[in-house]
Amino acid sequence: MALSPKATLPISLLLLLLLHLPILFSTTVSGGEEEFSEELLLKPLPDRKLLTHFHFQSEAPITHDGSFATHHHLFPKAISQLVRKFHIKAMELSFTQGRWNYERWGGFDPISSSNAKPPGVELWAIFNVPPHQVDAYWKNLTHALSGLFCASINFLESSTSYSAPKWAFQSALGSLRYGTLPREAVCTENLTPWLKLLPCRDKAGLSALMDRPSIYRSFYHSQRLHLTSSSAGGDVLNSRIILEQTLTVVLQPNIPRAGMNYVSETNIQPSWSLSSIFGRKLNGRCVLAKSSTVYLQLERGLVTQLENLQKDTAVFSANDTGSGDFRRNVGFELSVNPSKVHTEMEKSYSILFEYPIKEYKDSEQFDLGLTWKHPLVWSSPHAPLYASRFLTGSGNERGAIAISLKSTESTQGFVATNNEERCKLQVDILQIVPWYIKVYYHTLQIFVDEKPQAVKDFVERMRVSPSEDKVSPGMMELVLKFPCETKSAVLNIDFDKGFLHIDEYPPDANQGFDIPSAIISFPEFHAGLRFSDNATSESPLLSKLQEKSHVLSYSEVLLVPLTTPDFSMPYNVITITCTVFALYFGSLLNVLRRRVGEEERLLKNKDANKGLLYLALTKLSAKLRGRSSESAQPLSPSSSSSSSKSSISPKLVLKVLLVAGIAVAWQYYSQ
Ligand SMILES: *[C@@H]1O[C@H](CO)[C@@H](O)[C@H](O)[C@H]1NC(C)=O
Ligand SMILES: *[C@@H]1O[C@H](CO)[C@@H](O)[C@H](O)[C@H]1NC(C)=O
Ligand SMILES: *[C@@H]1O[C@H](CO)[C@@H](O)[C@H](O)[C@H]1NC(C)=O
Repeated sequence: MALSPKATLPISLLLLLLLHLPILFSTTVSGGEEEFSEELLLKPLPDRKLLTHFHFQSEAPITHDGSFATHHHLFPKAISQLVRKFHIKAMELSFTQGRWNYERWGGFDPISSSNAKPPGVELWAIFNVPPHQVDAYWKNLTHALSGLFCASINFLESSTSYSAPKWAFQSALGSLRYGTLPREAVCTENLTPWLKLLPCRDKAGLSALMDRPSIYRSFYHSQRLHLTSSSAGGDVLNSRIILEQTLTVVLQPNIPRAGMNYVSETNIQPSWSLSSIFGRKLNGRCVLAKSSTVYLQLERGLVTQLENLQKDTAVFSANDTGSGDFRRNVGFELSVNPSKVHTEMEKSYSILFEYPIKEYKDSEQFDLGLTWKHPLVWSSPHAPLYASRFLTGSGNERGAIAISLKSTESTQGFVATNNEERCKLQVDILQIVPWYIKVYYHTLQIFVDEKPQAVKDFVERMRVSPSEDKVSPGMMELVLKFPCETKSAVLNIDFDKGFLHIDEYPPDANQGFDIPSAIISFPEFHAGLRFSDNATSESPLLSKLQEKSHVLSYSEVLLVPLTTPDFSMPYNVITITCTVFALYFGSLLNVLRRRVGEEERLLKNKDANKGLLYLALTKLSAKLRGRSSESAQPLSPSSSSSSSKSSISPKLVLKVLLVAGIAVAWQYYSQ
């Protein structure tokens, strides 16, 4: 089609403009130095499950006067306003459903140390304000977050529900406040506002994979928002605020029900693909993201097993492809070839396959799949001590909390590397209890290898702030040092159960009361992967995985039954009293209003009227029945009335039966 030169000129101008638009856009983005990246980590877990970990990071610079630029391209404005208004130095908010299984899913890797969270809501924040103002800021912050995330975070406002740990948790950062709501139900209404903070929401990029039924059907899901400002280093000019949003989901891939060789297939790991676990494929990346990458991680234990398998099969095939080449390996098959493979520098190493999403065009969809070819059994690395917590005692008066620590294979490794005379293992414990659990801190007992021991031999430091009724919760911070060869240790502490006022009970008081998770950390152990190449520092997720964070685990939430009043009793009393009153006043009014003389006259009138009324009724019924009434005309009124009665009564009986039938059916189906 030939166009006149006059027509081509505006078109070419338009084209020029269109061509330059992306350049203009990108310069403004890089000029504002706001960055956003999206990443997804997939990791097969030993118990036939799959860990999916979404990681989104937004960064924005802070201007010289300490505030942000008022306009943001990528960074969520709601968060920047929050930071500015409440002078937040660091903050973390997590919503979790389910419990991280430290035994099966591991407790010695960056994901479990920083993304395994206690059930319900956990919030901590560090403020950049004078110490006496911190509580006021915390209260206002809980209200702001409550509105932002459609959750009852505002319950953390009450001084009975938060505390200020000094050194057992996130130490040396400043004025910290910490609070949890173990009973908060987490649902999609909390995820939607969280997704709204992303520049592409869940419309494009990796977040488009977030299929709500798959996420909420999972064994564990935790959505987290972590905020830090890097101005702590003192360099005011280059300070930045970093918002990290993660969603960690543990899913069970669908197990195909192939019947043929069922016995041999029971041990093989279930094969999966992105489309089979989330029900959709990846259409492309979020265009606003600086990097958009999918990673597949194979744990150290799994890599060791794969190598063993490789060696076994290499006997049969003389062609040894080498341990580094996992693309053509015997253990499993990947549907897409990775563009890069990161390996750790350790003796036993983990492997990370990298898939940059920018290479996938809109027409072709990205769907990473993994098919297992051989059954493999491995285990995830465990924390030095496996911690669990339980209640002892019975009755409604008193009980005891016990924290049990059991050594795992990591402890033995630690002993091997530190084979000095007096090797010690440090354990920090933070335990917060609500005020109605009155803990007697002097009753702390320690059993090491099932023998009672003096507390001062093992407790290095201890800080206790006892609870105050209806004012503040009790808190205990402990630093324990155990000899490395310790097999097990149990801490036991007694408590009395308190009484609550009737309006302090939660709606379902008979369920019991929750004691928040204890935090158990191992400051001498660092979870972190060590990759050999330098390129990994470009990716926020990889630098997060390489960060040396403390190994940390949360204990179970305990459910304590307290004495609860019988809440149905007041209602029974109220209903009975009301009935009695109604009967009394009803009969009283009846007696008071009755006039005997009047009534007698009325009765007489009624007798007189009855005949008239009767006649009128029979006439009406006769008219209604039309012709049949004419045949009945000659009959006496008494016989006609009896015939009318006999004609009406079957209908009545039918109606009554129908209503009864409906009632019975209703009763039957509504049960
Ligand atoms: C907290 O909110 C209240 C009510 O809106 C306000 O009066 C108070 O000044 C706020 N305090 C801080 C520290 O922001
Ligand atoms: C090993 O296999 C590769 C391709 O699979 C082939 O090119 C190579 O010649 C083989 N080497 C030996 C020693 O068989
Ligand atoms: C990684 O970076 C360090 C310095 O930052 C450099 O000495 C080293 O050679 C780099 N290694 C690779 C493999 O590029």
